[in-house]
Amino acid sequence: MGATAPRVPLLAMKQITKRFNAVEALVGVDFEVYAHEVVALVGDNGAGKSTLAQIVSGVLTPDSGIIELAGEPATIPNPSAAHAAGIATVFQDLALCDNLDVTANLFLGREATAGGSFLRDGEMEQTTKRILRDLNSPIPSVKTQLHALSGGQRQSVAIARTLIGNPRIVVLDEPTAALSVAQTAEVLTLIERLRELGLGVILISHNMVDVRAVSDRIEVLRHGRNNGSFDATTASYESILAAITGATSYIKGDRAY
Ligand SMILES: Nc1ncnc2c1ncn2[C@@H]1O[C@H](COP(=O)(O)OP(=O)(O)OP(=O)(O)O)[C@@H](O)[C@H]1O
Ligand SMILES: [Mg+2]
Repeated sequence: MGATAPRVPLLAMKQITKRFNAVEALVGVDFEVYAHEVVALVGDNGAGKSTLAQIVSGVLTPDSGIIELAGEPATIPNPSAAHAAGIATVFQDLALCDNLDVTANLFLGREATAGGSFLRDGEMEQTTKRILRDLNSPIPSVKTQLHALSGGQRQSVAIARTLIGNPRIVVLDEPTAALSVAQTAEVLTLIERLRELGLGVILISHNMVDVRAVSDRIEVLRHGRNNGSFDATTASYESILAAITGATSYIKGDRAY
């Protein structure tokens, strides 16, 4: 392969359709994420964002369509298949335990998983410190119990937790929805750090300020269909909003279809 070889996306979804009885949650949706890229997935309530995230994370399987991982056809039949494929997801509820410390939360449910042997407390603590350092995460101590952390710090713990499995793709469903301005800034810095580390990040968000601050590309869903694809650095707020609300039909770059 020469330097001009086309880049292969970490994940490509082609013509994905998912119905819940009469509801068309996704219809013919195309979606890609590359390494070193943050792709925002935006759209109104019920647009199909979480359905797409759940397909990526193996919680749901599509009715039809093609999924490719690193250019190879793939299926993601369940969450452990997603995990094995290097896909990690932080769902909105975070699923953390308030009465455990940071280290215990990172290893929750995986204490015995490293090569089938039990990890010692010291090793778990070292790994936790390394991951938080990699993320430049501002958590005072790995021994702090979760209830003593701010919302932004809790979100960092949830993101750090995904990195235990060395993922290539991280899916974040509304990571800043419940956060203050300062905490949101912390989480956005963390997302930029994930990109620097080479991951592909799928960011689901209602917050256009966050989305435009941190993402490279913005994909709009409307009524379960692609309704726009924008370069985040050049797209205007109005054009993104128009795609979300349906004031415009499909837009890619500055071309309307
Ligand atoms: N398990 C389910 N059973 C039936 N219908 C569902 C199910 N999950 C989602 N839907 C429907 O599919 C459509 C897409 O929902 P989805 O949750 O993907 O939207 P969303 O873009 O994440 O919305 P929000 O911004 O409100 O989180 C909606 O009409 C929703 O009611
Ligand atoms: Mg949702």
